[in-house]
Amino acid sequence: MSSNTAGRCTARPGTCAAPATARITFRMSTISRWRRDRKLMYILGINSAYHESSACLVQDGRVVVAAEEERFNRVKHGKQARADNPDELPANAIRFCLDSAGITIADLDHVTCAADPDEIAAVRAAGLPSPWNNPDKQELFLNTLPNIPQQFAQEGFGGPFHWVPHHTAHAASAYFASDFPDAATLVVDALGDDAFSTRMYHGRGNQLTNVADIRYPASIGYLWELCSVFLGFGVYDAAKVMGLAAYGDPTRYTAAFDQLAWTTDPGGFDMATDRLKFADILYYPPSADCSGLIEALGLEPRRPEDPLLDVHHDVAAALQVKTNELVLHMARHLHTVTGSTRLCLAGGVALNCVANQVAFEDGPFEELYVQPAAHDGGLSVGSALHVWNAVLGNSRGPQMRHAYWGPSYSEDEIETELSAHPELVFERAADFERDIARLLAEGMVIGLFQGRMELGPRALGNRSIIADPRRREMRDVLNRKVKHREYFRPLAPSVLAEAVPDWFEVAKPTSAGDFMLMAYPARPERYAQMGAVLHVDNTCRIQAVRSDTNPRFHRIIAEFAALTGVPMVLNTSFNDQEPIICSPQDAVNTFLKTEIDYLAIGPYLVRKAPDDSTG
Ligand SMILES: [Fe+2]
Repeated sequence: MSSNTAGRCTARPGTCAAPATARITFRMSTISRWRRDRKLMYILGINSAYHESSACLVQDGRVVVAAEEERFNRVKHGKQARADNPDELPANAIRFCLDSAGITIADLDHVTCAADPDEIAAVRAAGLPSPWNNPDKQELFLNTLPNIPQQFAQEGFGGPFHWVPHHTAHAASAYFASDFPDAATLVVDALGDDAFSTRMYHGRGNQLTNVADIRYPASIGYLWELCSVFLGFGVYDAAKVMGLAAYGDPTRYTAAFDQLAWTTDPGGFDMATDRLKFADILYYPPSADCSGLIEALGLEPRRPEDPLLDVHHDVAAALQVKTNELVLHMARHLHTVTGSTRLCLAGGVALNCVANQVAFEDGPFEELYVQPAAHDGGLSVGSALHVWNAVLGNSRGPQMRHAYWGPSYSEDEIETELSAHPELVFERAADFERDIARLLAEGMVIGLFQGRMELGPRALGNRSIIADPRRREMRDVLNRKVKHREYFRPLAPSVLAEAVPDWFEVAKPTSAGDFMLMAYPARPERYAQMGAVLHVDNTCRIQAVRSDTNPRFHRIIAEFAALTGVPMVLNTSFNDQEPIICSPQDAVNTFLKTEIDYLAIGPYLVRKAPDDSTG
């Protein structure tokens, strides 16, 4: 049993208790023996075709490690989405996966990539619009993809290589990561290799069956990208538009959006695609042909430097309402087609917590699972789970109940980093969780670095900045000290899971509430105690924190509740205009360049040394 425990250790080398050199030797020999005896199967999933590149290792059907490349290479979204670089592999994320398991590429049983050259070729042959909208780029993309398996072969991989279609990987990332025996599975994003923007599946056992599709150029994902540019943001700023929507009145532009997008029967939607011109959206630098929106809305696009006015709030609000309508319409149809009482969601649009809440609470389903990495960063997870389940026909693994699949770091590694900075003062906290809770209650802003880094776009207590949620002024404090966020972006609370019903109106409990993927109305009698985290519409994009999946974060919040009577802390991602931090070095760098008051990292409480340069 003890050797199994060592073999299953998924933390990166250097995180266990023994000295590092001896530990790696022990781990390697133990894993080799265990693999020989148990015939463990390792499947490496990767995503690199477009953007948000990532890697995931599945061991005997269980996700054991997964991370996005952007956290290592510090490039937002990992790489640019270009036709000439789908073979730009997430090298750091792959190395992390292999090192964590103590294996090499040659030890992998299967490698899988979320893309499908056959599907792309079929789209080209049919003359359908492609992700590149340009025959030369499409050809280049198609010709570059084979470099991916070639690179693995050159590095010593000799097993089967699997291409998994983009939307299949999204669907698998939600359905196979749930423990539902069957589920209606809805994937909504901008566009996949298959020229579809939305695909619907019925998951049963270890198979996913496609039951309905919406073909590009009708695309909810692209509608959000276009509106983001129209409102003066970047293509990737859908989350900003979602936050802005709560300030607006949707009725001003309801009729206009009804002309641009509408439901169809049975269970689909269509758009005025000739007016919306999604093909002209450019990512670098962000630009789009907004003439269709200008005509429909009777409004000129907002430039980034222009003030945000009520009309901009109202555009965002109408877009959100239209999205809710379309997603709920499809969810209802999926329920009718599949007969399932369970819903799984993935694709970038599934990061929209408002639409998720409407689809679930206003819809017919009794249970919901949303993949926490619903964007393309989760495709590595989905492709690996698809191979284990659907391709190889194995039995289902456990539910992904948390998002802590990234690297962790040992006390030695943390201390080495801290010791390299004489401008820092650090000490072991006497009572770590209580000390942090006390500092929070005193109004301090704390960078919290602990355990394994989160997969997905949300910081969930391991790479977070935390603060007192009661203080309405905390938004300004955070903006001054570290985050340069727009006024309209909500700050989320991390709440003791057992306290959620007393503070929020939750019609149907779901694990999506553990990942900031649902927006719940706060109970009116609680408004005064949560001024910093209450959005303008009195909802909160909560993280329900559980003692079994993040015991330390749970204890910190419980200590804060004991001091204040408020069972939550403000939680925002630990970064400043950069990807969320990954390593102790990242944590220290961001701590030093901002005015965060304390850094709580591993067992240490860190502050900046008093500046004595002025005497
Ligand atoms: Fe996608």
